[in-house]
Amino acid sequence: MSLSNLPDPEARKAVVKQDLDNVLHPIVQHKQLEQQQMVIVSGQGSTITDANGQSYLDGMAGLWCVNIGYGRQELADVAAEQMRAIAYYPHTSMNLPAAELAETINGLMGNNYHVYFVNSGSEANEAGFKIARQYAKSEFPTEFRYKTISRYWAYHGTTMATMSAGGMGERKTKFEPLMGDFVHAAPPYCYRCPFGLKYPTCELACVKNIETTILGEGPESVAEVLVEPIMSGIGIAVPPDEYLPEVEKICRKYDVLLHVDEVINGFGRTGKMFGHQHWGITPDIMAIAKGISSAYLPIAATLVRNNVFQTFYGEPSELRQVMQVNTYGGHPAAAAVAQRNIEIMQEEKLAERSAEIGKYLMDGLHVLMQHTIVGEVRGKGLLIGVELVKDRVTKEPMGSPQIQSVVEFCKEQGVIIGRSGGGSRYSNTLTLSPPLVITRAECDRVVEVMDKAIGNLVRQLSKTA
Ligand SMILES: Cc1ncc(COP(=O)(O)O)c(C=O)c1O
Repeated sequence: MSLSNLPDPEARKAVVKQDLDNVLHPIVQHKQLEQQQMVIVSGQGSTITDANGQSYLDGMAGLWCVNIGYGRQELADVAAEQMRAIAYYPHTSMNLPAAELAETINGLMGNNYHVYFVNSGSEANEAGFKIARQYAKSEFPTEFRYKTISRYWAYHGTTMATMSAGGMGERKTKFEPLMGDFVHAAPPYCYRCPFGLKYPTCELACVKNIETTILGEGPESVAEVLVEPIMSGIGIAVPPDEYLPEVEKICRKYDVLLHVDEVINGFGRTGKMFGHQHWGITPDIMAIAKGISSAYLPIAATLVRNNVFQTFYGEPSELRQVMQVNTYGGHPAAAAVAQRNIEIMQEEKLAERSAEIGKYLMDGLHVLMQHTIVGEVRGKGLLIGVELVKDRVTKEPMGSPQIQSVVEFCKEQGVIIGRSGGGSRYSNTLTLSPPLVITRAECDRVVEVMDKAIGNLVRQLSKTA
């Protein structure tokens, strides 16, 4: 089936049938797909178009990932050129694009890292767990450090280990029992402080909770602490400014590695190249994906700080090397595309643009506070959440069907927005993570449509009250 014959209704119907008969889709209910039948065929800038010719302003950049926007033909050319030279050879040897990309990424991090290439954010975190464990076995041979401390309500990926590190019950229960070596501490979700406190009089109880968790588990059993700088899955929780530096201090105090998940935060999303750079911390291990290639091809990586990398360096007979391999890591075509993607970000100053236009969008979104069901508008750069509540005083979360109705209303109006993703609990935050090339006029449209959608929900709720 070629793209050119999709506008024909018969061809569209055939694709839908082909899909529904054969594809098992991730996380969406197939019955829902039978109704919606959205077949995406093209994209340009911040806009995607389906087979019916209907265009949507994509306020989520796909799955928080198409940072440089859709339709960059030159990335197709870069991939084709590399594939013509050599599409693939295993990364147990070297190739030009992966070496260049590693140097570029290392440069963004102060040239103090080595870059281990994988294929997805989950795999990048998963490799991080293994690197932390292998490091601990080498460096602390008389101890048994293997645990990862992460936070409730975090999302770190879809594999068994990354799901174990994640802290969203409803995403996990169907697959339990999970791995027991992941221990959870409280998240810095200030709007709903897990300790019922308020910043700054809270004195960062959530940081103390991480220390308590390390001490409770026994520092000699803890390999690393895993944090996503701005927690996206819970609905864009921006931590207080002291939070990450204090977490880092605790890691140093107990010789625990600091593993930072930049899968969404990275590559300009929050207004700096990496989210943690807002707070000046130094990760020992860092997972990157999504914006690394703006999803033009699948590629991701785990960065390993050089002091950790040294552990893996020695004579072949010592078997110190990273004891894992994946077929596609360092894929030359994907690496070449990622390299050009990062160059485009730098040439077009997209991280700076994200800070500037993110502020414009956020200022615009504050108009939504006129609706009493909007509890908070928060975020950094172009990573923004709008939390809906039934009551501003009790902060009772808005119900899942009502949140879904807002998302669907926006889509009907041609604007795609997202929602936080814990299942039915705490999934009451509308999320925005548009391409970093979104224009001011497009931001105005997002605000206008969300305002209409929320106003519509308010009217419906008052009718049923
Ligand atoms: C913070 C975070 N970490 C890791 C992942 C997993 O990435 P992937 O879906 O590429 O495996 C995601 C995915 O959305 C994520 O949001």
